[in-house]
Amino acid sequence: MLTPGLEFGTNEHLFIEGCDVAELVKEYSTPLYVMNENLIRSNCKRYTKFISENFKDGSFPCFASKALSCLEIYRIMKEEGMGVDVVSGGELYTALKAGFPADRIFFHGNNKTSDELEFALKNGIGRIIVDNLTELHTLNKIATENNLKVKIGLRIKPGIDAHTHDYIRTGQIDSKFGFAIENGEAMEAVKIALTYNNLVLTQLHCHIGSQIFDKTPFCDAVKVMLGFISDIHNETGMWISELNIGGGLGAKYTDADTPLEIEDYLAPVADTLHNFCKENNIPEPDFHIEPGRSIVGEAGTTLYTLGAIKDIKDVRTYISVDGGMADNIRYALYNAEYTVINASRNTGKVMDNITIAGKCCESGDLIQEGISLVNPQVGDILAVLTTGAYNYSMASNYNRITKPAMIMVKDNTHRLVIKRESYDDLIKNDI
Ligand code: LLP
Repeated sequence: MLTPGLEFGTNEHLFIEGCDVAELVKEYSTPLYVMNENLIRSNCKRYTKFISENFKDGSFPCFASKALSCLEIYRIMKEEGMGVDVVSGGELYTALKAGFPADRIFFHGNNKTSDELEFALKNGIGRIIVDNLTELHTLNKIATENNLKVKIGLRIKPGIDAHTHDYIRTGQIDSKFGFAIENGEAMEAVKIALTYNNLVLTQLHCHIGSQIFDKTPFCDAVKVMLGFISDIHNETGMWISELNIGGGLGAKYTDADTPLEIEDYLAPVADTLHNFCKENNIPEPDFHIEPGRSIVGEAGTTLYTLGAIKDIKDVRTYISVDGGMADNIRYALYNAEYTVINASRNTGKVMDNITIAGKCCESGDLIQEGISLVNPQVGDILAVLTTGAYNYSMASNYNRITKPAMIMVKDNTHRLVIKRESYDDLIKNDI
């Protein structure tokens, strides 16, 4: 399979948004993260359009920037009218430095430090999504000391775990994130929040998992959360005005993946929300979601140069590339599947049962196993598809490997958005 924007040219090279990968590699070297800007922007537009047309006025999608955090992505999100979700002081700092509007930033995390909370409050961040009682107390203290009224959300465990195709509806208490509904801790948190004069509870938030292909768990989450909003009203007389159901829509990594189109995921969610509110006399809340992978995942391609070929007779063939777990840890960490192609040629004898290995000093440093490649030769460019989410953002300097550069390609043009790290960058904090 090829992701949108990718095609082979008559010279047998892979082209990304009209750019020949051989030219890109000549200019920027490898490993190289290549992002398709048109695809990122069109995904954003599909989310913002559907949400503005189908939900209450204050509704908007937030890009989950843990999937990809750098100055340029926040600039793009700002231009596309998105909100963003951040989970650390570092992501927040990057968003602010990019000029992202503070009131459209939602701050998540199960252990935000006092410093991070103070930093967020000083900068007027839109919502702090509070994860636990310790944070609730700390936040109120900081807000009181600074004489601020802070809008907050509460992270709720709706009892739906959709990490697999078969999802579980209850018994998800054992998670480090949020307050469970089923044992009463969520209601207790609501009541405590309401006693705090410097906190204004506006939002309930949940996130049921990632790389989800089925609309049903999202619809069920909406019902559970609206049911809880109704319970809160019955017990306290207050209506929660914002519902945020997090991220989770899947991306296509291989032919086996069948993610829903953005509209096919949102339409049943919208129907569920409208019907449930109507049937239960609940005033419709503003609606938020936090897609990460489904916005940037398929927009990313990583280019490597093929190095050593090691054919171990009757065992397997290792083909090593000039990157690996330092720039894409997802196979080592999750056995995540990827499509890998030879970007230098698309005709010739196909070699099967290949293991793509990285260059780290670690046996588990593999990019993929059991794949086929068209006539791989030393010096060829290999492309790993769908690397736009959770690749650069999870990259490390293991073995003192420098992080790759990232470029944006758009309408036959390309531009650098993250410089390749230098050896000097590696030692700049060493004393
Ligand atoms: N909102 C919250 C609160 C989240 O925890 C996440 C992801 C998202 C939104 C975005 O979810 P998405 O739309 O991207 O599925 N490192 C893993 C993924 C971890 C996702 C964690 N939370 C991976 O590489 O697959």
